[in-house]
Amino acid sequence: MKIGIIGSGFIGGTLVRRLTALGHEVRFSNSRDPETLADLAADTGATAVWAADAAQDADLVILSIPQKNVPDLAPGIAGARKPGAPIIETNNYYPQQRDGLIEEIEGGTPESVWVSQQLGEPVIKAFNGIYWKHLLEKGVPSGASGRIALPIAGDDEDSKKLVFSVIDELGFDPVDGGTLAQSWRQQPGTPSYGKDFGVDALVEALGQATNERSAEWKA
Ligand SMILES: NC(=O)c1ccc[n+]([C@@H]2O[C@H](COP(=O)([O-])OP(=O)(O)OC[C@H]3O[C@@H](n4cnc5c(N)ncnc54)[C@H](OP(=O)(O)O)[C@@H]3O)[C@@H](O)[C@H]2O)c1
Repeated sequence: MKIGIIGSGFIGGTLVRRLTALGHEVRFSNSRDPETLADLAADTGATAVWAADAAQDADLVILSIPQKNVPDLAPGIAGARKPGAPIIETNNYYPQQRDGLIEEIEGGTPESVWVSQQLGEPVIKAFNGIYWKHLLEKGVPSGASGRIALPIAGDDEDSKKLVFSVIDELGFDPVDGGTLAQSWRQQPGTPSYGKDFGVDALVEALGQATNERSAEWKA
């Protein structure tokens, strides 16, 4: 597949490494000149591009940047992907450590719904609750014991199916986390966040989540 990645830090950069190793054709970007990504390009064979060009002709787009930076993205940044190609977003709202106050989210808008609104595009929420090093190192074949499960939330069934297959290919069990409106079940502060659960424990934890933002996760 052709995969375009916007944001190449801990998570985006890890996905550049993992997805090129699986044979995908990856274009990736940060907020600066692609020259700044020359080392990762040389290591992986992926192509460093300007963020505005990352989604060009992609079968899948991945957005992985600090939540507060989403409004800075160029308008229509994902518009040149193939028709119907899903956009995964991996972001989390860290008001106290990084992002400051985002009123709509504090008012109850799920974090990924807010990203979707900013982009003007549908998104799939995935990879937000796994530590980057575990994404890099802990993928194992289907059926292996201790395989980590990852929740995927979104509204379009075909997009979710594609994301399920990519997550399985990366070595994790995909679990349906519901619609994007229900994606608060996998946000920071919920029982499954950062826990590396297997399928059964993840399904249980998603079911136990409540849609209340605790003080720790408010600005
Ligand atoms: N770290 C983790 O283990 C982890 C796990 C799950 C989810 N997440 C979430 O995933 C997102 C990314 O996290 P991270 O830890 O990978 O962040 P990070 O290491 O700080 O990397 C952020 C990346 O986004 C790029 N960026 C920022 N603004 C941009 C813009 N306007 N256009 C294009 N690229 C832009 C940065 O480029 P520059 O270098 O040019 O600034 C950098 O490549 C966050 O929302 C985070 O909460 C992180």
